[in-house]
Amino acid sequence: MSQLQTVRGTRDLFQDTNQRHRFIEATASRVVELYGFDEIQTPILEPAGLFLRSLGDTSDIVTKQMYLFKDLGGDELVLRPEGTAGVARAFIQEGMSQLTPLKLFYRGPMFRYERPQKGRYRQFHQFGVELLGVEKPQADLEVLACGYRILKELGVLGSITLHLNTIGDEASRTTYRDVLVAYLNTRKSELSQDSLSRLEKNPLRILDSKDPGDRSVVASAPKLSDSLTPEAKAFFTAVLTGLKALEIPFIIDDNLVRGLDYYCHTVFEFTTDALGSQNAVLAGGRFDGLIKDLGGPETPGVGWAFGIDRLAELLPNLTASPQPIALVPLGEEAEQAALLLAEKLRTAGLKTDIGYSGNLAKRMKRADKIGARAAVIIGSNELAAGIVQVKWLGTGVQESIALSELGTRLTQFPASASK
Ligand code: HAM
Repeated sequence: MSQLQTVRGTRDLFQDTNQRHRFIEATASRVVELYGFDEIQTPILEPAGLFLRSLGDTSDIVTKQMYLFKDLGGDELVLRPEGTAGVARAFIQEGMSQLTPLKLFYRGPMFRYERPQKGRYRQFHQFGVELLGVEKPQADLEVLACGYRILKELGVLGSITLHLNTIGDEASRTTYRDVLVAYLNTRKSELSQDSLSRLEKNPLRILDSKDPGDRSVVASAPKLSDSLTPEAKAFFTAVLTGLKALEIPFIIDDNLVRGLDYYCHTVFEFTTDALGSQNAVLAGGRFDGLIKDLGGPETPGVGWAFGIDRLAELLPNLTASPQPIALVPLGEEAEQAALLLAEKLRTAGLKTDIGYSGNLAKRMKRADKIGARAAVIIGSNELAAGIVQVKWLGTGVQESIALSELGTRLTQFPASASK
C-alpha cells in the first residue's frame, strides 16, 4: 500500500517552521492591536459567488486558482483564496455599517491552485487588516504604517522595498483604459496570448505582465498617472506626502496594478529580493467599491495581507525559547512523585519535562538533548528524606536541594548563570 502524503502544495507545519509562524502571528497581533484592530474569524468555506463577484472574472484567482466544488447538498463552495471578500461579506451580513470606522484583522489558511515552489503553496497562511469606512488618505497611511512596523519588528526590512502606485478613481481608469487600448492596438502583434485576451476585458492587467514581449510594449505605453482626475491626483499626493512625513521609504511603480478587480486609488506591495520570483510579502490597497458591489452600503476600505509562510522564510533565527527543567525520576515511586512535582514547578511558571524511560544515563542524555538548564534527579531514598539532586547542566555542578526549596531555587537561578 502506498504511503499517504500531504496534498501537493500543502505542508505539515512543526518545530522550527511552526515556531516561526507562531512568532510572526504573535508579533503582528501585538502590533495591529496597537493600531486598534480587532480580530475577525470568517469561515474557510464561502459561497463561490462571493469570489466570482468581487475578485473579477479575468483575475488569475477566478480563472485558474480556485478550489471550487459542489458539496453533497449541491451548493457551490470555494476554499477561500483570500480574506478581503469574506470580511466584506461579514460586514454586510452582520450589519457592521453601524460600527464604522471599523478596523478588523484576520489570520488563517487560504487556498490557491498555483504551481508550488519556494514561497508559493496551495495552502498558505495570511495575516491581514482591513480599515473600513474611512475615505481619507490618512486611512491608507495608517495601514501602511502598521504593515511597515510589523516588518520592522520582525527584523526583515533590510531586504524589503515598498512599491506603490495609484490606479485612480473610476473616472481616471475609464479615461486611461481608452488611451491604453488605443496604444496597445497599435502593437497588438507583439502581445502575448494572455494579454490579447485581456485587451478587451481588463487591459490594465497587461501593465504588470511578466512576459518579456509584453514588457517591452508596456515600457513605452502611456502612463496612468497622466489620466488621473484632479481628485485622484490629490489623493495620491496626500499619501506620498504622508509617507515622507512618516519616514517610510517607497518607490513609485507605474506598472503596479494588482491582480484583483476590487482595487482603486492606492495599491502597494512590499517586495523582497531574497525569495526568488515569489517576491511580494505584504500587499494590498484601497477597495472603495467592494462592499457596495456585494450589495452592502457604500463603504470605503483599505487594507493588506501578508503571507506568513513567506515571511517565515525571511525571518532571522529565532531567539531560543526558555530552557526547561528536566525531571529524572529513578524507580516507580519516584515517577509518581515526579508527576506531582512537575505540576508544582509549572504552577511556579517553570517549563518542565519528565524523562519517562531508560536508566539514569539515558534520561540524563535526554535532558541534554532538550536543552535543559537543570536536571532534577529524584531517587526514592532521597525522596523519603525530602531532598533531590540538582545537576546544573551548564556547569556540571551538582547539589542537594530540599524539596521545599526547589521551586524557589530553580526560579531564582537565572538561566544564564547555570551555563
Ligand atoms: P494578494 O497579493 O493576493 O492580496 O496576497 C497577499 C500576500 O499573500 C502576498 O503578497 C503573499 O505574501 C501571500 N500569498 C499569496 N499567494 C500565496 C501563495 N500561493 N503562497 C504563499 N503566499 C502567498 C490579497 O490576498 C488581498 N486580499 C490583500 C488585501 C487585503 N487587499 C486589501 N486588503
